[in-house]
Formats: sequence, C-alpha cells, structure tokens
Amino acid sequence: MSPSKLSSNHIPVMLQEAMRALAVQPGGRYIDCTLGGGGHALAILERSSPGGQLLGIDADPEAIKIARARLGAYSSSILLVNENFANLQAICIKYDFFPVHGILFDLGLSSLQLNRNGRGFSFQHDAPLDMRLNPNQEVTAADIINASSEAELAHLIRTYGEEGYSRQIARHIMSGRPIRTTLQLARTIERAIGRRRGKIHPATRTFQALRIAVNRELENLEAALKQAINLLGFEGRLVVISYHSLEDRIVKQFMQQEAKDCICPSGTPVCVCGHKARLRLIKKRVITPSLSEIQLNPRSRSAKLRVAERIITQDDYYGIAEVRDFLAEAKAGAWRRPALLKKLEMVFAAA
Ligand SMILES: C[S@@+](CC[C@H](N)C(=O)[O-])C[C@H]1O[C@@H](n2cnc3c(N)ncnc32)[C@H](O)[C@@H]1O
Repeated sequence: MSPSKLSSNHIPVMLQEAMRALAVQPGGRYIDCTLGGGGHALAILERSSPGGQLLGIDADPEAIKIARARLGAYSSSILLVNENFANLQAICIKYDFFPVHGILFDLGLSSLQLNRNGRGFSFQHDAPLDMRLNPNQEVTAADIINASSEAELAHLIRTYGEEGYSRQIARHIMSGRPIRTTLQLARTIERAIGRRRGKIHPATRTFQALRIAVNRELENLEAALKQAINLLGFEGRLVVISYHSLEDRIVKQFMQQEAKDCICPSGTPVCVCGHKARLRLIKKRVITPSLSEIQLNPRSRSAKLRVAERIITQDDYYGIAEVRDFLAEAKAGAWRRPALLKKLEMVFAAA
C-alpha cells in the first residue's frame, strides 16, 4: 500500500475539539509530539496557513514516512523528526523551534500501527511479540514475557493493565513459556481467565500493560509534559488526548499542579514551596468525544482531552529589565508578530 493510502486509514480523534483547544491561528508555530498518520498535523497546517510552522515528532519511523507523504503540500512549513517525545526540549533546542503557540499530544497508537501485521501490538494478527514503537529500542514484549519473574509479571499486568486477574495470568505465562507470538500469548491468557469478559477480549489489558512497559509510556509522558511547559510562549496552549486512565491521571495531576501558586501539603500554615502557577486551565473538566464521533470511529470512545494555557507572570522575570514592557505589549494581544516572537525568544534565553 502506498504511504498516502495508508494514512487515510487513521481517523484523527476529536479533531475539531483539538483545533479549538490549540486555538490554531495563521502564522502560528506548533509542535505535534505524536505525528502518527499526520491527521491532526494536516489540520494544524491548514489553519495556521499562511506562515504557520509545524514540528512533527514520532518515535515510529514508519509514521514519519507516512506523514511526510500526507503533508507534502506543506513541505516548506514542516520539520518532521523521528524521535521520542521524552527528548522534546533537546529536539526543540537542536532545531531552534521555540517558543511555540501550541503543543499537541495524541497519545497511544494509530490504527496504522494496530492494523499492521508484524509489530505485535494486536492479538487480532499472529506476529512476533515485539511492540516497540522504534526498532532501535532494546527491549521487546517477548523479552519481558520470557525473562521476568512471576511476581514481576503479575505486578506489571496489574499496574499497567489495571487487570484484576494478574496473578492467574502470570502463573499461566510462566508455565507456557517460552511465548514468542501474539496469538500464543492471547491463548495463554484465555486459558488463564476464560474466553470473554464483557465486551473486551481477556487479553486486552495484558497487551496494554506490555505496550506501556516496552515503550516506557508513562515515564516518557511525565518527562515530556515537564519540558513542554518550558517551550510554550505566552498564552501558548498545551493539549493532550489520552486513551486510558493511567495516562489521563498523569495529565490531570500535572495540569492541576502547574495551575496552582502553592503546592505545599494541605495544612501547612505558611507556604514554603515557592511554587508559582505556570498554567491556566482552559477547561476544568475533561473534554470527551461526541456520540456521533464514537459511532463513526469507535476507537475514539475512551479519548479524553485536556487543555491548559501558559501564563507568564511578571514575577517569573522580575529583574529582567525589558520584560515588563514586553509583557504589557504581549498582553495587549500583539505577541504573535514575528518581532515580538523574537523578543520572547530572548526572554526565554535569559530566563
Ligand atoms: C494516536 S497516534 C497519533 C495519530 C495522529 N494524531 C493522527 O492524527 O494521525 C499516536 C502516535 O504517537 C506515537 N508515539 C507514541 N509514543 C511516543 C513517544 N514517546 N514519542 C514519540 N512518538 C510517540 C506513536 O508512534 C503513534 O504514531
């Protein structure tokens, strides 16, 4: 299949909601940390034209190829990088791509990855138990399955899969080893806990747990969020779409914490943390897909979108002489002009 044909198989989730949350506008500079099939990226480029710029990142080299083909009409406005978003700040420094107006994370896997045989992400196809987003990563799902102790497996499946039957599954995996393929693992899990439980296949949670462990998904997300905040310009938007409660909890706690002026434990009589809010929550509650989107694209049913905006207070840069004037100008809504962007870069460099 040609790259452009492949890209049409992934329907971007909550596209309109994500564009509204990012407040995409002409001439803006954006980062899509999870490029995938390039669906959200294309919408950002359409809305930020003329003059928009996009840095697209994906850990999967195949995704970069597909997105490059799809975004061909905007080739002079894009920079696509096959990297892990855990290195977000280093990537932006390397390519001199900050501050930005918006950063998007659309976490998890694309349909292209789930549907492609051979990657081992899905138990719908028989394939080696791999699950690496990037073939240069060292550890595969088979390594974890065949080298971990029973207690380690049970812990991993319970923690990352939120699976209540983790001990039974771990016991069956131990007696079924070596397990090398997706179907072998799915059958082992069926033997451990039965063929069907409600609507989801009994292997779903264990596969999720393995994928999270292989790709260090939660650690990478935490690292990237902390870096993203440093890259956003004044009123820049941080938008995250997540697909399971472990990811959403990280995003929610991060945004809530960064929106507070003090994070001392409750009951502390006087603030000792010195923490200052760097984000403002645009919506306090999570945004979920419409019923019609879920009907059209069932993959969207578990999506949760959260959005926050970077605030920069005078306190952040107290003592940097020209910052006060700059902030007054920026607050007047003029900061999107290139000259002001340049000034903002200087502020960031000095901070
Ligand atoms: C749900 S898809 C994104 C789909 C995309 N928004 C679109 O509209 O086509 C998630 C993408 O993020 C990538 N990804 C997941 N974790 C990553 C990480 N830590 N670093 C870079 N890319 C990652 C995956 O390889 C996948 O292509």
